[in-house]
Amino acid sequence: MAITKETLNLHFEERGTGTPILLIHGFPFSGRMWAGQLETLSKSARLLVPDLPGFGDSPAREGGVSVEQYAGDCFAILDALDIMEPVVIGGLSMGGYIALAAARLMPLRIRGLILISTRAGADSAESKANRDKTIAQVSETGASVVTEAMYPKLLSPENYKAQPGVTDELKEIMRSATSEGVVGALTAMRDRPNSTELLGNLHMPVLIIHGKDDQVIPPSEAEVMAKAIPHNDLHLIDNAGHLPNLEQPDEFNRIVQKFVAILPTSVTG
Ligand code: MLT
Repeated sequence: MAITKETLNLHFEERGTGTPILLIHGFPFSGRMWAGQLETLSKSARLLVPDLPGFGDSPAREGGVSVEQYAGDCFAILDALDIMEPVVIGGLSMGGYIALAAARLMPLRIRGLILISTRAGADSAESKANRDKTIAQVSETGASVVTEAMYPKLLSPENYKAQPGVTDELKEIMRSATSEGVVGALTAMRDRPNSTELLGNLHMPVLIIHGKDDQVIPPSEAEVMAKAIPHNDLHLIDNAGHLPNLEQPDEFNRIVQKFVAILPTSVTG
């Protein structure tokens, strides 16, 4: 059966016309984290911003979840909208893991890749054990265990004081995370494959953006990816932590607009 907007069972925002840009949120956020991009980037592109299952306005998924399934959700949105041309796919942190899964599964559908505050490697044994511990805690007491633990690490330390609007918005965004969504995402991140080998085989242009003060994933991970990806453009942003699109939206949007404006039209596998 062909997928339609009605059978998708996933909420997404759509704004603007032109090159489709699909932006995948990080953990434990929702598509609302791209509010500062929707307005500006949709002036020259067609923005597509999903809420992954169990986050924002999308219902949680029954059964297991993987980064490949999340990538499949993103392609299902393109199918439902009849978008057959290659698109730009961007993802922040967990969204980056999913963007890399999308590039592994269907490279010819991707005209440009944007990897934000993310890394290519898989979880270490210690990180996997921590994910398991967190899954048990969330199952027992709810998603706030995760959001409260993550909150102090998300922004550049100065921005907690300097940007009260961002801190309020951040708390609001994380409030919509459900326990089912959080457990699914933790499972998917724990089990994600190592994408290091993939980097050298990425044939599309890749934009890498990372906050210099990221306390969740160090900027050195962005530099490692840049060394391995054939066609890449690396930007390390000042006064930004894990969420450069929220902390420095003007600079973030300018970098993305420039990247999209000069993308070649043809895609090679
Ligand atoms: C994210 O920001 O999406 C997650 O913190 C990434 C992770 O836990 O590996």
